[in-house]
Parts: sequence; C-alpha cells; structure tokens
Amino acid sequence: MTEKTIRHVAIIMDGNGRWAERHGLPKIEGHRRGANQVSVILEAARDAKIDFLTLYAFSTENWKRSKQEVAALMKLMEEFLDEKIPELMEKNIRLRAIGRLGDLPAGVRGKLLRAIEATADNTAGTLIFALSYGGRAEIVDGVNRYLEAAWKSGKKPEKLTEESFRNCLYAPDVPDPELMIRTSGELRISNFLLWQLSYSEFYVTDTLWPDFGKEEFAEALAAYRKRERRFGGRLK
Ligand code: FPP
Repeated sequence: MTEKTIRHVAIIMDGNGRWAERHGLPKIEGHRRGANQVSVILEAARDAKIDFLTLYAFSTENWKRSKQEVAALMKLMEEFLDEKIPELMEKNIRLRAIGRLGDLPAGVRGKLLRAIEATADNTAGTLIFALSYGGRAEIVDGVNRYLEAAWKSGKKPEKLTEESFRNCLYAPDVPDPELMIRTSGELRISNFLLWQLSYSEFYVTDTLWPDFGKEEFAEALAAYRKRERRFGGRLK
C-alpha cells in the first residue's frame, strides 16, 4: 500500500495556560514554552516532508484577553521573528501569514512582513501563521474584497461558486489541510479555517501544547494514515 501523502497540517496550539498552572508558573511562561515548541514541530513537519504547516498563533477572539497577555503574546511573536528568521533561511522554509494583519501592532506587523519577504523564495516547506485570524472574518473579508473589486470595475459581480470563492480566501493557492491537530483536549473548531477544514481529519490529544513533541506529531500523522477518507461518499 502506498503511504497517504499529507501536504498540509493545521494545528490549534492550545493549553499553554494550563501547562503554566500545572507547573506553578505565570501564564506567560506557558506561552513562552509554547513558542519554543513551534520550532520543534516545524522541524518535525519538515522531516515528514509536509509542504504546509498552519499554526493558529492568535485568533480574532484572543484580542479580548487581558492587555498584559496580549502584549506578552505580541512580544513573543516579535522575538520569534527576530530569532528564527535565520533558522528559516537555513532550513529553506518560507513564512506566510493569514488573518487581519492590519490589526497587529506596527512593530510585529513590520517584522512579520519583512520576514515574509525575506523567505519568499524558500522552497523546502511553508510555515503559515494564523494571526488575528478568524474563519468567519476570513470569509467576510474575502466576500468584501470581491464586492469591492466588482464595484471598482463598474461591473455587476458574477455569482460565486465554490471554486471561484476559493480566490476570496487569504491564501487561495494553499491546499486544504488533510489533517487538523488540536492539543489539550477541547473538541471545538474555535473559528479556525472554517472553509478549509470541511473534509479534514481531526486529531485531538489531551497533551498540552508545550508538551506536544516530535513523537506525538508522528503519532498524529500515523493515526491519519490509518483512516479512510470518504469525502461524504458512500462505503464501497
Ligand atoms: C492557547 O493557550 C494558545 C494561544 C492563545 C495561542 C498560541 C500561542 C503560542 C503557541 C505562543 C506564541 C506563538 C508564537 C509563534 C510566538 P491558552 O492560553 O488558551 O491555554 P489554556 O486554554 O490552557 O488557558
């Protein structure tokens, strides 16, 4: 039997707060450990020849967290961008981002856009950060961009189809994830990639994100490979 190819894995990195609590540490330490784990899983994904790894790093809902926590998460993102870009260059990994990037503080946005530009020609794989991202926001933003383009052209907008709607997404060229992993046990989609996850397989683990390592990432891939995907079709 040939091995099922996995081109795209998406991850909801949950459980940083619980990890910190269990270790008697401030919440931000959980986020810091979580940010370190990103490099570990990025390497594991590259070793497994996954083309696209999308990480839910900050949701549209996360803005409602305390000012201190939001500031700390933004600082971690800046530090990640400062420290990891040489590593991404060395590993030939391209960085991209999806979400309402205009909502990010100027410092983070500037670094992010520079990193995206610097890594644009890298070809060994793509790391996609979902930042100020919401699945509903993505759909609404896409439709509004579509309408605006139609108004500007002075033509009546053509009816959308599922195929043409894909161009309204933040990253239309990226294939839908075959696998979505969620750490720390919650059985929710939490407004992540609502359009793209329609037929994805879900792997949910109780492991908290800062403890989610290479071995368990490999287990998730193995679990996916054992599943039968039917895309709504009937059993043969
Ligand atoms: C959930 O933990 C995680 C987030 C709010 C976003 C993910 C953020 C990171 C992994 C750290 C920053 C990342 C980078 C790339 C710099 P939670 O606080 O909701 O955990 P809890 O549910 O246990 O409280």
